[in-house]
Amino acid sequence: MSVLIKNGRVVTAADDYFADVFVEGEKVALIGQGLTVRADKVIDAAGKLVIPGGIDAHTHLDMPFGGTNSADDFESGTRAAAFGGTTSIIDFAIQTKGRSTLEGLDTWHKKAEGKATIDYGFHMIITDLPDERLSEMNRLVDEGVTSYKLFMAYPGVLYVDDGTLYRAFRRAGENGTRICMHAENGIVIDEIVKQAVADGKLEPKYHALTRPTRMEAEGVYRAIAIAEVAEVPLYIVHLSCADALEEVKRARARGVDVMAETCPQYLLLDQSYYERPNFEGAKWVMTPALREKWNQDVLWRGLELGHLGNIATDHCPFCFKGQKELGANDFRKIPNGAPGLENRMSLIHDAGVVGRKMSLNRFVELTSTAAARTFGLYPKKGTVAVGSDADIVVFDPNRKETIGVGNPRMHHMKVDYSAYEGVVVQGYSEVVLSRGRVIAEDGKLVTAGGGRFVKRARAGELLR
Ligand code: URP
Ligand code: ZN
Ligand code: ZN
Repeated sequence: MSVLIKNGRVVTAADDYFADVFVEGEKVALIGQGLTVRADKVIDAAGKLVIPGGIDAHTHLDMPFGGTNSADDFESGTRAAAFGGTTSIIDFAIQTKGRSTLEGLDTWHKKAEGKATIDYGFHMIITDLPDERLSEMNRLVDEGVTSYKLFMAYPGVLYVDDGTLYRAFRRAGENGTRICMHAENGIVIDEIVKQAVADGKLEPKYHALTRPTRMEAEGVYRAIAIAEVAEVPLYIVHLSCADALEEVKRARARGVDVMAETCPQYLLLDQSYYERPNFEGAKWVMTPALREKWNQDVLWRGLELGHLGNIATDHCPFCFKGQKELGANDFRKIPNGAPGLENRMSLIHDAGVVGRKMSLNRFVELTSTAAARTFGLYPKKGTVAVGSDADIVVFDPNRKETIGVGNPRMHHMKVDYSAYEGVVVQGYSEVVLSRGRVIAEDGKLVTAGGGRFVKRARAGELLR
């Protein structure tokens, strides 16, 4: 199968020019002006951007959490991603306490195999790490899992203590991999929560009011300090507020190898959503929580100035009916997480490029290239270049669509609400290719399945 994408504006993190792109099999074979090669399919991209497929480095598909399972599995989640212009995800496999991480990896392979429409990799969530299992971290590298996530939050569930953090950080530093950190002081937060519950404060808004931004900042500070001593590259996930960003900035100014991701929800939504009546606030119960609105501008500036280095969704959807409702009488029982995987590219184009004059290069960097470089997928993924996988989006920068469950072009996630219901966005992923196959075109699924597990390289290494 060959595809010729003609007359488009090719944008990568570094370049911006008009050219034709010829795809042969799974790879980009030729880029040039006025190409005359014969192709099985020709796409006219005049007036459109030709950009690398989005990479979402933070998703939770088919994940057991909060007494239930995230609503999208690898079939529905990756299909929705395809519609939204995302052609790779890095999901989180989980190690069960007392069991091997390799067993956890095997479980996640079984969840994904044969179901995914786009390519995927895994980070490994470590929930305990006795000395005798430290060597598994090296085995994971051979399996193409070159990053681990650890939690300072969720005591009794995913939380690990500082000693475990240090052991994991040291080993990751030694084996050339990267640590992803959920940085929030869960121990102190649990005390604040206990007090709120004792005072009869049980509505969704108390999820946010019991998680002060200072506790996120403290987690970020502590993770950075431990990473500095352990000499490991650190990646702070889902950074939500100015207080936490300040710690990242301070460390980067000292030369520490730390970068941070934020998510569309922290850039676009705020704490007032928890005030919605009839328990609706539960739709946005996630961790970290949505913050006061003024934080958004600080995060955008962080992206513009390079203090924040990536945008991922933390897609962790739970239906309002039957799942979020588990916490109808007690915010602690609301499963934490919200949907977003499908809408990231359009939301960031609209709010970033259209709304804040972000350059197209930076848009591509933040939605694709940075994740590829950070997590060992580059240059196989994350750019449009000869020899790279033909994961390409023909993106219409002018088309407007309304996000919402009622719009069949914008909502394919298996969740009964949208976190961005009614939001009008400018920018739409019109044709989406995954390794040379057209998977979505003009709001219709063309090819389902065919997504593959990608073995990732170590931090800083290139992937062919
Ligand atoms: O609320 C969230 N973020 N749920 C997913 C788990 C996590 O902490 O990333
Ligand atoms: Zn987290
Ligand atoms: Zn997450």
